[in-house]
Amino acid sequence: MPAFDVQKIRQQFPALQQQVNGVTPVFLDGPGGSQVSQRVLDAMVEYLGRYNANLGGAYFSSHKTVELMAQARQAGADLYNAASADEIVFGANATTLCFAMSRAIARDWQAGDEIIVTALDHYSNVSPWVLAAEEKGVTVHQVPVDESRCDLDYDQLAALLNEKTRLVACTWASNTTGTLVDMPRVMALIKQHSQALSWVDAVHYAPHCRIDVQALDCDFLVSSAYKYFGPHLGVLYGKSDVLAQLSPYKVAPAKDVNPNRWETGTQNYEALAGFIAAIDYIASLAGTADNLPRRHQLEQGYALISTHEQQLSRLWLERLNSYPAIRVYGITDPSLAAERTPTFAFRIEGIEPRVVSEFFGQHQICIWDGNFYAQGLYEQLGLTEVGGVVRTGCMHYNTTEELDRFFSVLDHLLAQV
Ligand SMILES: Cc1ncc(COP(=O)(O)O)c(C=O)c1O
Repeated sequence: MPAFDVQKIRQQFPALQQQVNGVTPVFLDGPGGSQVSQRVLDAMVEYLGRYNANLGGAYFSSHKTVELMAQARQAGADLYNAASADEIVFGANATTLCFAMSRAIARDWQAGDEIIVTALDHYSNVSPWVLAAEEKGVTVHQVPVDESRCDLDYDQLAALLNEKTRLVACTWASNTTGTLVDMPRVMALIKQHSQALSWVDAVHYAPHCRIDVQALDCDFLVSSAYKYFGPHLGVLYGKSDVLAQLSPYKVAPAKDVNPNRWETGTQNYEALAGFIAAIDYIASLAGTADNLPRRHQLEQGYALISTHEQQLSRLWLERLNSYPAIRVYGITDPSLAAERTPTFAFRIEGIEPRVVSEFFGQHQICIWDGNFYAQGLYEQLGLTEVGGVVRTGCMHYNTTEELDRFFSVLDHLLAQV
């Protein structure tokens, strides 16, 4: 396994080189969107500058665009370990893909059917299903959160599943607390108790952990490239036999073949170029292994990302836990760093989350406050009326020195109250 040199990695990200008011900013806003590597920017500029065209023309740039589309699907298949590139569907973002696909999936739902969503999810993976269910008279169950870890309540999930369950929509990682859901366990429960389709939200999972849809055996899985160093683009996996059984909402003259029939209108080709470069970037972390298939390089890249991020998580938790005025939501034990992403939700006694994030913003440290559309979680934890939480999120390009800067600003803030 090659060494992980975070300084070398940082050099590939222009945003990490800049100064704002004479200070190098610290990006701890990864769960909201990552910074973008230079190779992604280059790929997008090259496509838009030289080849901007639509599919199907009899000339070079259109041919190039057809080629790009095929390469992007292969990059998606490598990222997810899909059996075929034809199982990859692109769209504007994860939310839009979920809305579009939910219409098609719900076509044959009937009154009396049931679906299951969770309180841990971003509402991108709740509202589309709830709205589709409302139209069909389908009952929606929401699995509550086990508050001790801010994890799914697996027993409740098992109890809710039955032969009437048509779909289970569940996140693989919480975008708020960083909890990693035991998705193989969720899949096993679904299969044991029902014949429901499974929809996995991997938007927060994909920047941090390796995905293997064949090993997981889910029906659908979605992620967003802007969370893993690429441009704004939604990337959906749909199992080929499931895609074949569904019928999309599409314009009549558009070809009725998978996966294209799920992609309405003209695609964002420059984003596809950037997406390929983002996948190559993650693969490139494996260093000299150019002769290995890209999927293997991706696996190595993710192993390096995980090791570095778990080290950051341990340090964060050790330090955050030492402040009596701070309450961290989710997994707080540093020895359990492998069971979470380096995303931390916390509140400081007596200080509104917005006040905290503004203070850090003045020091060029980018962190978030609010509820991050994880409405079920906030309602269950009683955080809706109190401004939610403060959220910091590391990526593999963050360093322990940045962590030191964060804690020194935190000390500064606490000294003022
Ligand atoms: C876990 C999770 N799911 C879904 C979404 C929505 O993704 P998109 O912005 O691609 O629609 C987000 C966005 O932050 C997210 O964090």
